[in-house]
Amino acid sequence: MSDADRARFAPLLPREPIRFAPDFAWGVASSAFQAEGGDVANDWVAAARAGRVPPNPGNGFWTRAEQDLALAASLGLRHYRLSVEWSRVEPARGRFDEAAFDRYRAICDAAVAAGVAPWVNLFHFTHPTWFAERGGFLEPANHADFLRYVERAGRALAPHARHFHVSNESMVYVLTGYLMGTNPPFVRDAASAFAMTRHVLALHADAFRILKALEPQPTVATIEVYLDPRPEQPDDALQRQAAERFDAWYHGVLLEALATGWVRVPARAPEEIGHLRGALDCYGFNYYNATSFGADGPGSWSDRGDPPVDAMGRKVFPGGLEDGLVRVARALPGVPLLVTENGVPTTDEAFRIRYVAAHLAALERARQRGADVRGYFHWTLVDNYEWHFGFGPERFGLVGFDPATGARHARASARWLAEVIRTGVLDPARIP
Ligand code: FCB
Repeated sequence: MSDADRARFAPLLPREPIRFAPDFAWGVASSAFQAEGGDVANDWVAAARAGRVPPNPGNGFWTRAEQDLALAASLGLRHYRLSVEWSRVEPARGRFDEAAFDRYRAICDAAVAAGVAPWVNLFHFTHPTWFAERGGFLEPANHADFLRYVERAGRALAPHARHFHVSNESMVYVLTGYLMGTNPPFVRDAASAFAMTRHVLALHADAFRILKALEPQPTVATIEVYLDPRPEQPDDALQRQAAERFDAWYHGVLLEALATGWVRVPARAPEEIGHLRGALDCYGFNYYNATSFGADGPGSWSDRGDPPVDAMGRKVFPGGLEDGLVRVARALPGVPLLVTENGVPTTDEAFRIRYVAAHLAALERARQRGADVRGYFHWTLVDNYEWHFGFGPERFGLVGFDPATGARHARASARWLAEVIRTGVLDPARIP
């Protein structure tokens, strides 16, 4: 790490040791398609064939899950967030593949055997081709297909996993897939994005009800990424307005809907979805960086003139994690919080360690301000496919792998985090 980056990180790092309670949940997060990759019948594979996103050979998790879970356990990690690739378990409409379910059951069982709790997410950005071809979630008549899958997957896995999520980052899914048009289904239309906002919330409520009816009854947590929108220049009225409008839609609608059941999407009549109120046992909070609204469109934001910048060009700003956790805790009183993703693309282990240390310090500040944060899941254990970057140099893993053999190698950050977990102390003197 350069001296300049060392100096940039210094003010963001904790000054005193931070102690974590023995029941603080340490985990890692991943998603099916990003880790498994392969030639599955989903729309990201189709988009890669069309040259719109990078191809995804995966990191070998589909066959190596048992070793990865044992590796996680050896680092002291006790929670593993994974997802089910819908196109694997339902490759054609209404035809469920029991062999694929068997593999997911075996993965959950291997986790439990290693002393690691699996957290099973049912939707992480990828649609089966058959579902996409029928018009996906934009077509309300298709919603029953998703709920049938949720029910089948829930029944298949409930005896093997105690924690579920309906979907990853539903608001970012709407933002990228329907407003910005950068992700499949590549729609760029405000009316569609507003309709989808309502749909993902309604589907969450329906799926929550389905999952909570399972035996044994699981914990069901949301997962949303906090984007912390800010004007690039605070005194620029237009930028301020853009950031506020974005925030009112993105975080405002979501938090109000979860708290009250009222869905107030711009340009649509308010709608009360009664069973959306309180439809979460835990709020999964992802965080990477704050978002700026400036003259050249959105970017990343920091309160410093010269912040550390990661390999994807994003400014490091742990304050967004602190403020976001406090805001969500206030909006949803009584709901525990879990950091379900936080991590950084880098090739520099000193950078990764500092990024994590700075965000754990922010998490601790949020706890001191009253946010009931129960754990921290790092994104991710083993390097995986990053949606628009593929397997470029921008790696998020605590662990790398050899693409020729699949062999894993734990990085310095993995050893550092393992020590924090083992001792229950983040000691600033031990940041290399
Ligand atoms: C999150 C996504 C996850 C991963 C990380 C880096 O927003 O949920 O799939 O790509 O970013």
